[in-house]
Amino acid sequence: MSEQDISRWRTPVLAKSTLWGVVFTALTFLLSIIVINDQYAKSSGRLTISITQQQQLHPSTCKDGHIQGMLGRTYSSNLTELILQNETLPRGIVQNTSDLQLRVLGERANDRVATQRNLLAIAAGIKQKANVNKMVQKFPAENFTIMLFHYDGAVDKWHDLSWSHRAIHIVAMKQTKWWFAKRFLHPDIVAPYNYIFVWDEDLGVENFNASRFLAIMQEEGLEISQPALGRPSSEIHHTITVRDTTGRVHRRIYRNKGRVPCSNNSTSPPCTGLVEVMAPVFSRAAWKCFWNMIQNDLVQGWGLDFKLGYCAQGEQSEKVGVIDSEYVVHQAIPSLGDSLEGEALKQPGSDLRTKVRKQSAAELRAFTRRWRYAVQHDKCWVDPYRVNNNESAHHSTLQVQSSE
Ligand SMILES: *[C@@H]1O[C@H](CO)[C@@H](O)[C@H](O)[C@H]1NC(C)=O
Ligand SMILES: *[C@@H]1O[C@H](CO)[C@@H](O)[C@H](O)[C@H]1NC(C)=O
Ligand SMILES: *[C@@H]1O[C@H](CO)[C@@H](O)[C@H](O)[C@H]1NC(C)=O
Ligand SMILES: *[C@@H]1O[C@H](CO)[C@@H](O)[C@H](O)[C@H]1NC(C)=O
Ligand SMILES: *[C@@H]1O[C@H](CO)[C@@H](O)[C@H](O)[C@H]1NC(C)=O
Ligand SMILES: *[C@@H]1O[C@H](CO)[C@@H](O)[C@H](O)[C@H]1NC(C)=O
Ligand SMILES: *[C@@H]1O[C@H](CO)[C@@H](O)[C@H](O)[C@H]1NC(C)=O
Ligand SMILES: *[C@@H]1O[C@H](CO)[C@@H](O)[C@H](O)[C@H]1NC(C)=O
Repeated sequence: MSEQDISRWRTPVLAKSTLWGVVFTALTFLLSIIVINDQYAKSSGRLTISITQQQQLHPSTCKDGHIQGMLGRTYSSNLTELILQNETLPRGIVQNTSDLQLRVLGERANDRVATQRNLLAIAAGIKQKANVNKMVQKFPAENFTIMLFHYDGAVDKWHDLSWSHRAIHIVAMKQTKWWFAKRFLHPDIVAPYNYIFVWDEDLGVENFNASRFLAIMQEEGLEISQPALGRPSSEIHHTITVRDTTGRVHRRIYRNKGRVPCSNNSTSPPCTGLVEVMAPVFSRAAWKCFWNMIQNDLVQGWGLDFKLGYCAQGEQSEKVGVIDSEYVVHQAIPSLGDSLEGEALKQPGSDLRTKVRKQSAAELRAFTRRWRYAVQHDKCWVDPYRVNNNESAHHSTLQVQSSE
C-alpha cells in the first residue's frame, strides 16, 4: 500500500476534519442536486423527477408503468418492454466507448498519460523499421498514442526501440492499412483522441513537427489534412498535395489547362477538398464519418480520397487542406505491395505487382459503383455539394462545379 493510500484510510480517524468533511459533503450534495435539477430543467423541458425523487419513487412508482427518466426518456418496469428498449443495464454502468490506453498489471495507471490526445497509426513492415523509428520520434510521447499495424508478422523485432513498449502492436499477415484501420480504429474505440493520423511507413519526416502541425490544423479549422509532399517525393498522385513553398497552408490549386481546370470558383476535387490517403490526419468527427465510408472488402482504399469532402464537417473547400510549412517526403521505399512482390519474385510465373494493381483498379470501380448505387437508393440523401449547383448533376465527381 502506498503512502497515499494509507493517508486516505487514516483521514476518517481525525475527528475535526471528519466533522467538517460531513458538513462539506452534505452541502456539496444539496448544492449539486439544485444545480443538476436546474440544468436538466433548462436542457429538457420534459424533466419530471429529480435525483431524490427518483430514489423515493423506486421501486413503487416503477412497478406500475412508466417513469420519466432524467433525460426525458421513458422507462418501463415491464421486462419485455425494457428489453425492447435495450435498457436492461443501469445507465451508470454502460461504457459505450473505449480507448487504447495501456493498463499494465501491477502498475498504477498514469493519469497524465490518460490525457494523451492524439493517435498515430502506421502500417509497418520490418524493412521500414529505421524510417518508422524516425517518424515516431516526431510525435511527442506526452500527446500521442502509437499504434503499429504489422503486416509482415515481424513484431518481435521492434522491441529494442525505446517506444515499442508503449506502442500498441497489431499483427495480421499481408493486410493493408485500411483493412487494419477498419477493424482496429473503430470510432467508439478512438473516441478519446482529438486527431487521428493514419499513415504509410515510408514518409520522410525531416521537416515535419507533429505539435506544430496540429497547432496549425487547429488554428486553420481543418478537419481533414495532410502535410504537403516536398521534393523529392517519388510518387505524387494529386497536384494539390505538392508543397507550396510560399505559404503555411493551401486548400486549392489553380490551373487553366488539364482535364479539369481549377480556379477560385472550383468547389470539389481535384481542385479543392482533397488530401491523399497516404498521410491523412482526421479530426475525431471526420474520422467517425470516414471510418463508415471505408468498405470492409475494398482494402486498398482507392476512391476514398475523392469522397473525403463528405466527411469535412462543413464546406470541403474550407475544412480540408494541405499544410505546407510542416511537410514530408514520400520515399516510396518498398511497402506492402512491393514486399509481397519480393516474395512473389521467388515464385516464378506470378507477377504479384500486376495483380495488386489490377485489384486496385477493380476496387476503385467497385467503390464508384457502390457510391452511385447508394446515392440512387437513398431517397433522403441530399448531396451537400450539389445543392447550389444546378448544372453538374450529370457530371462525374471530377467535374469542377460552379459555386454560384
Ligand atoms: C409487458 O409489455 C408487453 C409488450 O408491450 C405486453 O405484451 C405485456 O402484456 C406487458 N406485461 C405486463 C405484465 O404488463
Ligand atoms: C434495440 O437493439 C436492437 C438490436 O440492436 C435494435 O434493432 C433496436 O432498434 C433497439 N431498440 C431501441 C429502442 O433502441
Ligand atoms: C454513448 O453514450 C453517450 C451518453 O449516454 C451518448 O451521448 C452517445 O451517443 C453514446 N454513443 C454511442 C456510440 O452509442
Ligand atoms: C516541435 O515544435 C515545438 C514548437 O515549436 C518545439 O517545442 C519542439 O521541440 C519541436 N519538436 C521537435 C521534435 O523538433
Ligand atoms: C501536448 O499538447 C499540449 C496541448 O495541445 C501542448 O500544450 C503541449 O505543448 C504538447 N506537448 C508537446 C511535447 O508538444
Ligand atoms: C482567388 O481569390 C483570392 C481571395 O478571395 C484572391 O486573393 C486570389 O487572387 C484569387 N485568385 C485567382 C487566381 O483568381
Ligand atoms: C468565377 O465566377 C465568377 C462569378 O461567378 C465569374 O465571373 C468568373 O468568370 C469565374 N471564373 C472562372 C475562371 O470560371
Ligand atoms: C435550377 O435551374 C432551373 C432553370 O435552369 C431553375 O428553375 C431552378 O430554380 C434551379 N434550381 C436551383 C436549386 O437553383
